[in-house]
Amino acid sequence: MSDIRNIVILTGAGISAESGLATFRGPDGLWEGHRVEDVCTPQALARDPDTVHRFYDARRAALATVSPNPAHDALARLDAEWPGELLIVTQNVDDLHERAGARRLLHMHGELRSALCAACGRAEPWDGPMGQGRRCGGCGTPALRPDIVFFGEMPYEMERIERALAMADLFVSIGTSGAVYPAAGFVQTARHHGARTLELNLDPSAGSFLFEETRQGPASMLVPQWVEGLLAARPA
Ligand code: APR
Repeated sequence: MSDIRNIVILTGAGISAESGLATFRGPDGLWEGHRVEDVCTPQALARDPDTVHRFYDARRAALATVSPNPAHDALARLDAEWPGELLIVTQNVDDLHERAGARRLLHMHGELRSALCAACGRAEPWDGPMGQGRRCGGCGTPALRPDIVFFGEMPYEMERIERALAMADLFVSIGTSGAVYPAAGFVQTARHHGARTLELNLDPSAGSFLFEETRQGPASMLVPQWVEGLLAARPA
């Protein structure tokens, strides 16, 4: 493993499941209880903003009741100690990676604790309920919405992610079902550029067959084990 310097890690809802946050798919998943098209599209926000705000206000409130688990902690440790390039790309809109201490992190699907002005595009930190009609702290328009990438919208920071994938020696996917693009395609991009690929997930995912190696189990066990092994063989 000593030939590995540059690492890209993709995380999904599975890494936060053991902290008590619901995943999207599968029994008890958020998309079992809600229709995507009612709460997570630009059309839903235009048609029924109250429903969209209620959904995200509840999810934001849930953040106050949860904490990072050993998988978040292990990635934060890896971030702090890894001497090469490292980027954690999360699809999660919770803030558990940063609360664990991760710094080299980006939220490609947005953040619950951020508000986006639909008029001027400015983002501002947000806590508590948002509801509709809140004014932007920049332009003053009452157009704040959750800073969430809805279905049909472009994920954030794609250029930076593509650059990191092109440089990666190792790509690791943790706790994601591989159902949503473009994140589901990162494994192919990384492989195309010569990276090794590893999947850590509770169940086989839609894209498991695309990875060189897959390990199945709970993230709170698999991630600390993997980080331990990687740091033991870290480059100088
Ligand atoms: N440890 C590891 N993996 C787990 C655990 C766990 N404790 N619990 C669940 N998983 C796995 C499941 O087996 C599943 O493959 O996590 C995955 C979660 O998949 P999804 O619910 O589909 O979540 P995710 O892949 O993050 O969804 C992607 O879809 O709706 C959108 O924008 C939303 O970012 C989200 C995107």
